[in-house]
Amino acid sequence: MTASYPNTRLRRTRASGWSRALYRENLVTPADLIWPMFVTEGEGVEEPIGSLPGVSRWSVDGIVKQANEAVALGIPVVALFPNTQSDRRSEDGAEAHNPDNLMCRAIRAIKDACGDDLGILTDVALDPYTSHGQDGLLDKNGYVTNDDTVAVLVDQALNQAEAGADIIAPSDMMDGRVHAIRMALEMNGHPNIQIMSYAAKYASAFYGPFRDAVGSGGLLKGDKKTYQMDPANGEEALREVELDIAEGADSVMVKPGLAYLDIVHLVKESLGVPTFAYQVSGEYAMIEAAAAAGAGDRDALVLETLLAFKRAGASGVLTYHAPLAARLLNG
Ligand code: PBG
Repeated sequence: MTASYPNTRLRRTRASGWSRALYRENLVTPADLIWPMFVTEGEGVEEPIGSLPGVSRWSVDGIVKQANEAVALGIPVVALFPNTQSDRRSEDGAEAHNPDNLMCRAIRAIKDACGDDLGILTDVALDPYTSHGQDGLLDKNGYVTNDDTVAVLVDQALNQAEAGADIIAPSDMMDGRVHAIRMALEMNGHPNIQIMSYAAKYASAFYGPFRDAVGSGGLLKGDKKTYQMDPANGEEALREVELDIAEGADSVMVKPGLAYLDIVHLVKESLGVPTFAYQVSGEYAMIEAAAAAGAGDRDALVLETLLAFKRAGASGVLTYHAPLAARLLNG
């Protein structure tokens, strides 16, 4: 580029704030955010999570307050995860389909308080309920079985649906579970309950703090590599997404987030389906650690990463920074 071509000065549109606003290609709003929350037993209980500074587990009454805050901030959906008390965890995770489990009580309480002002997304997978911390049922060799697990996941999903969940989000990565859950929802009078499948979920090192939060981390032996995707794979993500859409998912998720933006982009560009990204617990913790170490400004880091998801093509982002981001965006 030489000065003899002044028509190509790209800095021209960046020279002032009004112009940058005019030429901005992507925007984050509170409506792009899904706020994940952790529920625990008791009344008036708040338990800070050491590896997720600034995030706590709340008893159902506290979760309702958080849900009301989500509505006030313009956040459309909350995602719920339970920390099941240890004497209710078992080899087969049966607590997952107890109609009075912690999740169902939280769903009903939030629905009572917020009605249609807030969507509730619920996680389908057995890890918060099993004594071994895996997302499914084990055979005698310790392998996580597929079809037997799917049958239990269907019961879990129906249980959440009956309690009032709006979006069922299977995070287990079993084959065929979206179809099985969709059929069960249809046959049991829930044709309008959505499924957001964790379609491209990778066996990642970024989930550590989440496992502390739901209390499965200390229980888990081994890893989840026989069902979660290999981080080396990209085109396999397209097959996962295509299958889940064909099986009846309304939207799909890519997880983790920032390290997998290429997958978000690939899915959105190739298949043109509503694609969400989960900025997971380890990513949240990294931003918090960077801010605490003085390596960056928390607010700016949060908004810049959220914008990156939108730029990559995400329809929205699950993030523990949702309330902070919404406050910043609401000015
Ligand atoms: C498990 C589940 C995980 C997360 C959501 N659902 C962890 C895992 O697969 O072990 C991770 C979320 C996060 O790290 O924030 N079904």
